[in-house]
Amino acid sequence: MEKKLLVRVAPTADDLAHVACEIIAAAATASIGRRRFFRIALAGGSTPRAIYRLLADDPYMDFRHWQIFWSDERCAPPTSPESNYRMAKETLLDRLTTPPALVFRMAGEGDPDAAALAYERAVRELVPPNPAAGTGETPRFDLILLGMGVDGHTASLFPGSPALAEQERLVVATTAPTGQPRLTFTYPLINAARRVLILVSGAEKAATLRAVRTQPPDPNRYPVQGVNLVRGNLTWLVDAAAGGE
Ligand code: 6PG
Repeated sequence: MEKKLLVRVAPTADDLAHVACEIIAAAATASIGRRRFFRIALAGGSTPRAIYRLLADDPYMDFRHWQIFWSDERCAPPTSPESNYRMAKETLLDRLTTPPALVFRMAGEGDPDAAALAYERAVRELVPPNPAAGTGETPRFDLILLGMGVDGHTASLFPGSPALAEQERLVVATTAPTGQPRLTFTYPLINAARRVLILVSGAEKAATLRAVRTQPPDPNRYPVQGVNLVRGNLTWLVDAAAGGE
């Protein structure tokens, strides 16, 4: 698998959700066929909600082979409305008729630094690397879902954050501009993935998306520009409202 970049524009947010499900289902089928499991890291925020609901309704998806992780989390209890885990539980996990092989949430309720380290250790244990891909011993996810904020953040990698410079750790504690403590994948883990799907929906993101796609890379300003796979498929899936410009 070489390094590929694809930008797909869906007419509406609903179309985006359907296309995302097609991409995720194809990645799952390929991964399960080759490696028996589909190791996916879910994104948080609001854009994925419709996608997760559609995935749960897919009669052909065998979730027994899914190992589910998260690419970031708010430091809040799993029952909090802030929790990315809770969002995925409500829209996907609670609606599955067969339980996934593994659901491994980030412990948002704990000490952020300890929780980040514990999650990193678990990811290193559970997600195999593939040195032949040029990603060394870094765990290589089959698919990592990401969103993009209006400020160009992705996962919980925010503009100007020290986490943007992290090259050793795979999961770290960060702080959102609001002051909210977060847990997040770092670039080394994201960029080692086989496939990353960046989901961008809504007119409020059009200006940021245009800047991100046309201006020279400056991840410190637009962290999503730091998503650059070592060897794999990066797909930007945007709706017309976000990608209109
Ligand atoms: C989070 C997400 C974050 C999100 C973007 C886009 O924890 O909020 O991981 O990176 O993907 O902020 O959020 P929306 O999908 O709500 O626009």
